Amino acid sequence: MKIIKIALMGIGRIGKIHLRNINQHFPGAAVVAVADPLYDEETFKKDHGNLFFSKDPLEAITLPGIDAVMICTPTSSHATLIEAAIKNGKHVFCEKPMDLSLERTAELVLMAKNAGVKLMLGFNRRFDPDFMKAKKSIAEGKIGEVQIVKITSRDPGLPPIDYIKNSGGLFMDMAIHDFDMARYIMGKEVVEVFSKGLVLVDEAVGEAGDIDTALTTLTFDDGTYAVIDNSRKAVYGYDQRLEIFGSAGMIQVDNNLHNHNILYNETGIHHALPLDFFMDRYAKSYLHEMDLFIDSLVNDKEMPVGGNDGLQATRIAFAAKLSMGEGRPVMLSEISLTAKQLA
Ligand SMILES: NC(=O)c1ccc[n+]([C@@H]2O[C@H](COP(=O)([O-])OP(=O)(O)OC[C@H]3O[C@@H](n4cnc5c(N)ncnc54)[C@H](O)[C@@H]3O)[C@@H](O)[C@H]2O)c1
Repeated sequence: MKIIKIALMGIGRIGKIHLRNINQHFPGAAVVAVADPLYDEETFKKDHGNLFFSKDPLEAITLPGIDAVMICTPTSSHATLIEAAIKNGKHVFCEKPMDLSLERTAELVLMAKNAGVKLMLGFNRRFDPDFMKAKKSIAEGKIGEVQIVKITSRDPGLPPIDYIKNSGGLFMDMAIHDFDMARYIMGKEVVEVFSKGLVLVDEAVGEAGDIDTALTTLTFDDGTYAVIDNSRKAVYGYDQRLEIFGSAGMIQVDNNLHNHNILYNETGIHHALPLDFFMDRYAKSYLHEMDLFIDSLVNDKEMPVGGNDGLQATRIAFAAKLSMGEGRPVMLSEISLTAKQLA
């Protein structure tokens, strides 16, 4: 059996999750090389074993036998690394977003297509078992015609302000997952975006040019809606809920809790808090997305989340920013014209 050999770029929070998942769970693939300019080789080998390591991404990408490149670096480096992988004929998995410029994102999607290279985006939430079950129930007609999707997506706390400054902003960094989820659940394209945003958590976020609280309404091509609410800080933990309302019923996906003990007493009914953050809340989704990525490479299948999905979510994020700035609903068709100004 051929083993898919992967070069991993970036061994930070998400890179560590993918490295562990691939090398412990999937005999059909292996991360054989890692590049990270901020690690030294000795520490890397102590932490992660005897894999090829370089501070130079290109050295890992061009190592003989590499089939695919997995990009888990800060967003500002994604485009350069995607391009390097494509030019060396490697398949690509990239964390979101591909780039903060829409033109560059479109260019990369086209480049991958023309090179015959597979490109997958890390929209892992699609592969959460509960969200997948919701999608399946919709497809089976269990709630009739879907009319409204409500997504609640709140982080447990602010990331460092330096991270915020380089993130592309709340819509591009955080809500982009929810924009993709809305498209995935509905199976339709967005035509209009109306967003509002505030700084309620920390003034430093505003000083960094961003918001920490947002509300977005998406209108789909058949007139139906998604409503998304985002906050960078929910004091009770990582709040990730979904409600889908249809002509014949409703589906709710509630938070995953630390445990399922429920205490009833005279002061109320008490249960555990939601899981802390993405590492534990979405642990199963990361495993499943890797399974599908590897399966697409081994069996020459289409990627489950492709370049166009990345591009569409990025367009919606641009529209959201423009809508908030101008205080009006923005047609998605406007976005290709304004992307350069916004980048
Ligand atoms: N899908 C998800 O749930 C999810 C969750 C967190 C982060 N992300 C995305 O993953 C990416 C990384 O986020 P993170 O939180 O793991 O960041 P991080 O800061 O924890 O890790 C990034 C690592 O990349 C390294 N790096 C920087 N430039 C590099 C380069 N040119 N080549 C190789 N390595 C380089 C850094 O030294 C660092 O170790 C971001 O794009 C982020 O948006 C996705």
